[in-house]
Amino acid sequence: MAKARETAKNGAARVAPRFAAFREKYGPAAIVTGAAQGIGRAFADAIAARGLAVYLVDVQAEPVERAAREVEARFGVRARPVVVDLSRRDCLDRLRAAVPAQEIGLLVCNAAIGQEGPFLDEPLEAIARAIDVNCHASAALAHGFGGEMARRGRGGIILLASGTALQGSPRYASYAATKAFNLVLGESLWYELRDVGVDVLSFVPGPTNTPGLRRSLPSLKEGVAIGPIQLPGETAEIAIRALGRAASASRQRDHAAQLAARRRRADANAARDWKREARNEGGKS
Ligand SMILES: NC(=O)c1ccc[n+]([C@@H]2O[C@H](COP(=O)([O-])OP(=O)(O)OC[C@H]3O[C@@H](n4cnc5c(N)ncnc54)[C@H](OP(=O)(O)O)[C@@H]3O)[C@@H](O)[C@H]2O)c1
Repeated sequence: MAKARETAKNGAARVAPRFAAFREKYGPAAIVTGAAQGIGRAFADAIAARGLAVYLVDVQAEPVERAAREVEARFGVRARPVVVDLSRRDCLDRLRAAVPAQEIGLLVCNAAIGQEGPFLDEPLEAIARAIDVNCHASAALAHGFGGEMARRGRGGIILLASGTALQGSPRYASYAATKAFNLVLGESLWYELRDVGVDVLSFVPGPTNTPGLRRSLPSLKEGVAIGPIQLPGETAEIAIRALGRAASASRQRDHAAQLAARRRRADANAARDWKREARNEGGKS
């Protein structure tokens, strides 16, 4: 990413001109949820480096305010913190009150609540809260901001899935199921929205060294990439570059192969449905 920026006189990183097409398609501003830290913060950096203003959404005020200040100072773009609890049923209304929807050309639904351990040991209220943050908020934001993008005829949406979403995943049952919701929602919206100019991507990050992963792996030190575990900046960069190219992507080869097989089946189904529709339309005239 260093190559992509120049340094302005005041020390802020400035945006390289080669991102003009990205800004035209996805600008002028982006929303990133769960942006105070981890992969969300890395998305905010990668998007700001491309010259978009960023609304950083998170649940705690102090960390997200600090993150927004850092993004603004580093990249010289407008970065605003938005404190919203995405487990709330009215999270879309709250976001709309804080963010001018007509500015939003890119939405990254990244915030999630993780879970590990036997399903029956997990309190039902915790499962319900994770469903609200991981599933309801993604659907509500994609519906609200995606609708605005579709009306404008351009935009992008990235939904964060997980390798656990690709099959049954014991000890991650409820988390994996919420990530499968995001995976399938994004894969489906790729087909529904591409004809109106909106790119949708389901992204499977692979293990990434974030506060979330370090809660499951307490021996993992911050800032270390080891084995399959990568740094958040690498993960976010791969996702941003994949947007608009296919319905899904992963930086891990085995996950990418599984996603490709899903896309082949989805392409075949979409082509069959399209032919059936065309036959029905032909029959009507
Ligand atoms: N890291 C990995 O290895 C990995 C692998 C596969 C998929 N993913 C996916 O990638 C995404 C980011 O993961 P990550 O590891 O960066 O997560 P993380 O380190 O746990 O960060 C998630 C952020 O979301 C925020 N958040 C949680 N609940 C929220 C709510 N109700 N409203 C608003 N914000 C809320 C968190 O705030 P608090 O901490 O203050 O609650 C935190 O700042 C997630 O969707 C995750 O499922 C990650």
